[in-house]
Amino acid sequence: MCGIVGAVAQRDVAEILVEGLRRLEYRGYDSAGVAVVDADLELKRVRRLGKVQELADAVDAQDVTGGTGIAHTRWATHGEPSEANAHPHVSGDIAVVHNGIIENHEELRATLQERGYVFQSQTDTEVIAHLVEWERRTSETLVEALQKTAAQLDGAYGTVVVDRKDPSRIVAARSGSPIVIGFGVGENFLASDQLALLSVTRRFMYLEEGDVAEITRRDVKVLDVDGNPVEREITESNAEHDAGDKGQYRHFMQKEIFEQPRALINTMEGRVTDKAVVTEAIGVNAVDILKKVEHVQIIACGTSYNSGMAARYWFESIAGVSCDVEIASEFRYRDFVVRPNSLLVTLSQSGETADTLAALRLAKEKGYMSAMTICNVAGSSLVRESDFAFMTRAGTEIGVASTKAFTTQLAAMLMMVVSIARLQDRMTEEREAEIVKSLHELPANIEKALAFDKEIEALATDFADKHHTLFLGRGEYYPIAMEASLKLKEISYIHAEAYAAGELKHGPLALIDADMPVVVVAPTNDLLEKLKSNIEEVRARGGLLYVFADEKAGFEGDENMKIIQMPHVDDIIAPIYYTVPMQLLSYHVALIKGTDVDQPRNLAKAVTVE
Ligand code: M6R
Repeated sequence: MCGIVGAVAQRDVAEILVEGLRRLEYRGYDSAGVAVVDADLELKRVRRLGKVQELADAVDAQDVTGGTGIAHTRWATHGEPSEANAHPHVSGDIAVVHNGIIENHEELRATLQERGYVFQSQTDTEVIAHLVEWERRTSETLVEALQKTAAQLDGAYGTVVVDRKDPSRIVAARSGSPIVIGFGVGENFLASDQLALLSVTRRFMYLEEGDVAEITRRDVKVLDVDGNPVEREITESNAEHDAGDKGQYRHFMQKEIFEQPRALINTMEGRVTDKAVVTEAIGVNAVDILKKVEHVQIIACGTSYNSGMAARYWFESIAGVSCDVEIASEFRYRDFVVRPNSLLVTLSQSGETADTLAALRLAKEKGYMSAMTICNVAGSSLVRESDFAFMTRAGTEIGVASTKAFTTQLAAMLMMVVSIARLQDRMTEEREAEIVKSLHELPANIEKALAFDKEIEALATDFADKHHTLFLGRGEYYPIAMEASLKLKEISYIHAEAYAAGELKHGPLALIDADMPVVVVAPTNDLLEKLKSNIEEVRARGGLLYVFADEKAGFEGDENMKIIQMPHVDDIIAPIYYTVPMQLLSYHVALIKGTDVDQPRNLAKAVTVE
């Protein structure tokens, strides 16, 4: 949830560190700090409560110089957001930044206090600083001190350490929280996400679980969990350099909503021909696995969970395989039964969501046929630990509210569903060609949905003074309503709920009054008439309706029911298409409310703690 950057160079690194933090700010944004060792071997530490800009101003004002440094942007877990709790934490000559949670920090804190250490913060991280300082006293090298420290830590962490007395190196350890090393010329870097380093390098190496690394200007040494020297693969990143820039857009979320046609084209490229899905492109052994799969178990959180819920309808109705979808934080703590030939599918934008990763690790021991991930970040933990990965290619998603990750996940799952149906003889070539045609038309249809931006902006004013909103859908549009309500609540702070429209009369109808806008997703499908009845139930009780309807659905508006007539699209891709106006609605409501759209309060982009 937090972001880490580190650098060892001949030039001054403060600016590089702060720029790296800016690019990682979406991951955590309650406070930030930097520590740089200067030419006199003094450790200059600057920390600020608030956004990275506060830190940047302070660093400028204080003229922080030096070629070795570490930096951090925080999302509070232990201890309130404050300057004292901001990283780096210092113990003697040692400075430390950390992502993740140290579960045995209380026990370690007590031991360290007995040794005479005085704690300056409420964080779990500070125990790492003191432990490294303690171990450094009896270790030949800083790496050895970090290895001894790591052996005492329970929990998940990525941590980076600098020793004021020896600025020629920084050391890092990874256990459950990613660390990537970036290779420069005569200078090296590290970060919790390669995005932080794209302005200085394209060559990256990811540490594996349990690795400890030592980075100097000219050299990178990695030791595995047993302390043996290891080589890790170096890859050249093709991520866009400007992924961290908003360009013409006011917010990353807006940019990412409008990037969806391109993201979908990229996700489908090479995976669909004119008439068919290329199953081989889904992943190693995908043909063998999808041919025999009898059950799909999807595990995910948040928006990714909602996309799984929507795709479940396709798995069962098109491919004829049963499908369960479960929230990772629930799945990982219950006893579950693995059905024969069951495929585990984790869905994740970041590939680092702690609960999803823990669920994958647990499930892998339980006898699933295979573990697949549908993920947007190459090299992420889920990608590396799954048997195969189907990448969504949405491009970097920075807005905390997930948008293009959702629609590309749905497109990926639709391709997967078609493959299963064909491999298991449940779909004719003609039907496959029809679905593939709809997929090819999807980016252009998403453009049509985006063209409703202005209309939806005007509509958004009706919501801005409301405290609650209800979203309704039926069938696969119920999860689309779930996703719409998640978007609205997380960025506008308006309480929103989603209901399967048929469930209204079992309780939520009691809430209906003129202060509760009800948004309905109403494409033309077999359930349209049922949905119309549900809409009447709301109208009869004085509810205020906003119906996003297919132009062919035959709705007529009045003063209590606004109809947003959407151009007709094929049924199969309509759930993806109807997601877009919902995203725009949340975005515009949040704009009117003046919330921090890209970095909504209390949240973080990659949820790497449980
Ligand atoms: O990176 P993931 O897709 O695994 O993240 C899962 C959720 O944390 C994420 O979708 C979250 O709910 C978003 N903020 C929703 O917009």
